[in-house]
Amino acid sequence: MALKVLFTGADGYVGALLGPYLLEKGIEAVGLDTGFYRKGWLYPTSAPRPAVITKDIRQVTVADLEGFDAVAHLAELSNDPLGQQSPGLTHEINHGGSMHLAEMARKAGARRFVYMSSCSVYGVGQPEQILDETSPVNPQTAYAECKVKVEEDLTRRADSDFEPCFLRNATAYGASPRQRFDIVLNDLCGLAWTTNKITLQSDGSPWRPLVHALDMCQAVWRSLTAPADAIRGQAYNVGSNDQNYRVIEIARIVADSFPGCELEVGQPSADNRSYRVNFDKIQRVLPEFQCEWTAEKGARQMRQVFERIAMTPEEFRAEPYTRLKMLMRLRASKLLDDKLFWANPMVEAVA
Ligand SMILES: NC(=O)c1ccc[n+]([C@@H]2O[C@H](COP(=O)([O-])OP(=O)(O)OC[C@H]3O[C@@H](n4cnc5c(N)ncnc54)[C@H](O)[C@@H]3O)[C@@H](O)[C@H]2O)c1
Repeated sequence: MALKVLFTGADGYVGALLGPYLLEKGIEAVGLDTGFYRKGWLYPTSAPRPAVITKDIRQVTVADLEGFDAVAHLAELSNDPLGQQSPGLTHEINHGGSMHLAEMARKAGARRFVYMSSCSVYGVGQPEQILDETSPVNPQTAYAECKVKVEEDLTRRADSDFEPCFLRNATAYGASPRQRFDIVLNDLCGLAWTTNKITLQSDGSPWRPLVHALDMCQAVWRSLTAPADAIRGQAYNVGSNDQNYRVIEIARIVADSFPGCELEVGQPSADNRSYRVNFDKIQRVLPEFQCEWTAEKGARQMRQVFERIAMTPEEFRAEPYTRLKMLMRLRASKLLDDKLFWANPMVEAVA
């Protein structure tokens, strides 16, 4: 019988790829998302997409989770600047909302809970240190603190009936119809395409491990289908050792992928987030996992998408593709209330 999976964050950057990916693997996937960024759909796709329930994770009930074998949980405020804007709200959604969802899943008998964590739990590494899953966590932001708390709280709940696991993803890149341009490689590709020039605000020395969004999808799928004993209560980094890049290398790769693009390097910056990560453990936990993408291939993919849709500077800078901009707009226009619930769900009735 096909595995039945509810995946949250279905209308996000990774979720828009994960739905078709899981369906293609024969999984009965249903999405759930409150729909903050639904206004953005960068390019047409033909892949079959799963049904999506419109709901906030803070409001899901046991009934919503009944009949599912597993949950893949992606729906959160998804980056550091968003989290720093409203740390309280970030804790309420990313920690509180995630624990509520997990509790509902556990009660409904959905055994497996695949949680999208992040390498940002490691915070700032020592210059030559390579962090692995045994390294102490050192979260620097509300976003990363919440990832750590969810991992800790869910680890305590793991037992023979509940199988949480924690995918500590590197920073994503690559094309998705629900594009994000607020992550490093995608942002640099957009700059290269629209201005033919990349100006780094720093000297580019910090390390950033990267992973393609489709390789993240592969890790989710393999985590959903792995034997319970391999993954229960385990945290593992998602990425590959050869994709630890310095920001300057990422910028060079992008500049080389966009003919005629200039690269200008800035001064050392105050942003001290820098980490190199070891990705050996995922090979032990999910032996079949293999990244299929590199930054070079991802930058070429981005260029091909821009060429196909003749992307304009307006599209590049449009609100939905920068998560913080979109949420600020929805709050300013009072479509979202201060707790990020839809304030006027009847808008279609009066339009
Ligand atoms: N993209 C990355 O670089 C990266 C790296 C590491 C980890 N992650 C994690 O992977 C997950 C997916 O990331 P993404 O880049 O696709 O983010 P995204 O912002 O594109 O998507 C998140 C989705 O969750 C939804 N959402 C947010 N709060 C919700 C709520 N309270 N109820 C219901 N839906 C809600 C949003 O509407 C959005 O569609 C996140 O948990 C993120 O922290 C992402």
